Amino acid sequence: MSLTPIGTIHDIAPHQPLIVDLDYDTVVIFQVGEEYFCLEDVCSHQEQPLSDGVVEDCRVECPLHGSWFDLRTGKALNLPAVTAVKTFPVVVQGEQLFLEIPEPNW
Ligand code: FES
Repeated sequence: MSLTPIGTIHDIAPHQPLIVDLDYDTVVIFQVGEEYFCLEDVCSHQEQPLSDGVVEDCRVECPLHGSWFDLRTGKALNLPAVTAVKTFPVVVQGEQLFLEIPEPNW
């Protein structure tokens, strides 16, 4: 695992997600209370960015067809999406936010 710096706690707010372009993926970080959750920023149904969605009860709603995704697990909670989206742990050190990214398997 490696820690990738993605910004500070001042770059994000409960209704202002933080979008981060990684080398291989775009992810979105949502703040819920004092917690931070990171998902890949693409719905598993038809690739709509989830960063445009509404967050409620630790879930985000895809704005295109209304599937909800659990922010903790990435699990799709209702149709039409059936596949989970990837999640990454967010680590807070002081005011700095990091993503815990698995090392590539090659
Ligand atoms: S694109 Fe997200 S539910 Fe269809």
